[in-house]
Amino acid sequence: MFNGASDWKTRFRPNGRLTFLKGFLRHPTTVGSITPSSRFLERRIVASAEIAQAGTVVELGPGTGGTTRAILNALPPTSRLLTLEINPGFVAYLKSLPDPRLRVQLDSAERIGEALAEHGLPRPNAVVSGIPFSTMPAECGRRILRAVWACLAPGGCFVAYQFVKRVAELDPETLGLPEVSMEFLNVPPVHLFRWRKPQAGPQPAAEGRKAGQRPLPADSHP
Ligand SMILES: C[S@@+](CC[C@H](N)C(=O)[O-])C[C@H]1O[C@@H](n2cnc3c(N)ncnc32)[C@H](O)[C@@H]1O
Repeated sequence: MFNGASDWKTRFRPNGRLTFLKGFLRHPTTVGSITPSSRFLERRIVASAEIAQAGTVVELGPGTGGTTRAILNALPPTSRLLTLEINPGFVAYLKSLPDPRLRVQLDSAERIGEALAEHGLPRPNAVVSGIPFSTMPAECGRRILRAVWACLAPGGCFVAYQFVKRVAELDPETLGLPEVSMEFLNVPPVHLFRWRKPQAGPQPAAEGRKAGQRPLPADSHP
């Protein structure tokens, strides 16, 4: 049975793969892949980032939302997911996902600290990233990694899935060495890098937040 506007949106959304392919053809270096992640990779990302136990999750580079839907499927009902995506066409697509836990922002991953503060969200327990670190300038990649590390909750995970290993070489001084695994059932096969922020000890100063903005609460659950 047809149930009004939300059914209309769900049933007649344009094909995500086509939108993704068009995005890649327009911006190959920032999109970084000709096709969205496979179901197998989505499952591995969700398990690796421990989404089922997370109160707040941030996804960097959600694209047309395959990984976003997989995260939402595993996310507890009272948790929140904030996505940061720089492609306006993908953001318009993501905004049609009808889920009250989801906050979609057209923004760069570098602004993760500001975006969390703007949405009134606490430190995330998990940050998941599909942005292609291998095609961006090294300094830009380092800024993103430091911004992620600065806002991640103690004990939280940062999971980056990448075709090449460059992300692991960008800032080992700040993040330390990641656990590495592979998902072969993806075109092409992908590395998963996972860093866990230590529970205790001195935290790095929050970077990239504007003066005057309130700091993120230490309590990582909303
Ligand atoms: C390989 S696609 C991943 C898409 C989707 N998560 C998936 O796995 O199918 C990378 C995405 O990162 C986005 N992106 C690239 N640089 C970014 C940045 N600095 N901040 C936020 N998103 C970015 C691209 O627009 C693209 O949507």
